[in-house]
Amino acid sequence: MYRFILKNYNLKFIMSIRVILGITGSIAAYKAIDLAKILCRSSCDVRIVLSKTAHNFVSILTLKSLFPKKVYEYSDTIENGEMLHISLAKTSDVVLIAPASANTISKLANGVADCLLSTLCLASRSAIVCVPAMNEGMWKNAFVQRNVEILQKNGVHILGPVDGEQACGSTGIGRMADISDIASYIIQLQTPKLLLSKKVVITAGPTREKIDPVRFLSNYSSGKMGYAIAEVARNMGADVTLISGVTSLNTPLGINFISVDSASDMLNAVDKEVHKADIYIGVAAVSDYKPESYSAQKIKKQDNTDVMKLNLEKNVDIIRYIKEKYPKIFCVGFAAETNDFEKYGLQKIKSKHLDVVAINDVSDNKVFNSDCNEILLLTKNGQSFHIPHATKDIVAAALLKYISALSEFSAP
Ligand SMILES: Cc1cc2nc3c(=O)[nH]c(=O)nc-3n(C[C@H](O)[C@H](O)[C@H](O)COP(=O)(O)O)c2cc1C
Repeated sequence: MYRFILKNYNLKFIMSIRVILGITGSIAAYKAIDLAKILCRSSCDVRIVLSKTAHNFVSILTLKSLFPKKVYEYSDTIENGEMLHISLAKTSDVVLIAPASANTISKLANGVADCLLSTLCLASRSAIVCVPAMNEGMWKNAFVQRNVEILQKNGVHILGPVDGEQACGSTGIGRMADISDIASYIIQLQTPKLLLSKKVVITAGPTREKIDPVRFLSNYSSGKMGYAIAEVARNMGADVTLISGVTSLNTPLGINFISVDSASDMLNAVDKEVHKADIYIGVAAVSDYKPESYSAQKIKKQDNTDVMKLNLEKNVDIIRYIKEKYPKIFCVGFAAETNDFEKYGLQKIKSKHLDVVAINDVSDNKVFNSDCNEILLLTKNGQSFHIPHATKDIVAAALLKYISALSEFSAP
């Protein structure tokens, strides 16, 4: 555990988005349970409001068991002496209707307010996101299309529907958008645009240093921290380039993605991209050494000796190289340490001329492949900041929020 902790962030404050999840009478309503779970896991504060027919598709008992005290029925009116359609509207950042039936879409487009969900939509000043789900014939119906157009013209976000197999057995457009895409959309929509128009280059994942056609040297980095930073930076409005070693992660949408193998591939890719960047964040676990020579043929096992010697030579230190070549770029380096965090962190800042170093405690295999992290940030101006243990997307949000507020970063 880090020895000096200057200030703890209220991590919930960084990411918490207050979502009203409206569920309406569509076959896709059962998917809303998993959607609500994903949103809750992403630190959203989710309250559920059912349309008049939603209980035919998803049981109120199930919802109330999974999301206690957060489920409202269509006829609910008053809570703690307050009118629910007003209090829910006032205390939400976004109203997400998923699935949105043709009927509910029609009601919204025509200003009908005959249940809690439709009434709070009229009262709300927050963003409204509708995720239609219906049979292809219904979706293509001229009345439905007209209603969708009215909603869009009035600033309602329409997400999907997508093509695919439908509940009635036919294939076509009308399926509800994928629930993880819906959750990403909401988080992206609501994330403060702290890095608007900034160009951010991030490296992530491990590098592979080839020994022969079948072997390489590498490390345990999963890439999760770098990918989380890339996604949050994109959500904050940045133009993101992610240069990644081989990982098993999905490529984040809406960013420039460059896949690399070795440390020298990564250096070349960074060098090509970084000159246009405002911020460079080196999260990749770059191999310090590579085999001195590559054997084009597979190295055979020797029967006459138990020892195999492999000569290694140093790789170029990417972040030091970048900071020397482009001193104006704001550079954040990650350091994996098992002990003496501040001492090694400060050494890294000095030797590589970093603006910020983010130190991970990797003792006892705490970080690699984990979904959580804990970071100590040290700046070249002597500030320090502790981001306590949290999921990597929250740690990423705290990190980016912190550096976006640093005076040396915002100075022209
Ligand atoms: C079995 C069944 C499945 C339905 N599936 C859908 C659907 O996927 N999308 C849709 O817009 N309407 C669907 N409907 C029709 C709506 O449930 C109906 O229009 C209802 O009035 C919607 O009310 P609400 O918008 O208040 O939830 C379905 C109806 C039934 C009986």
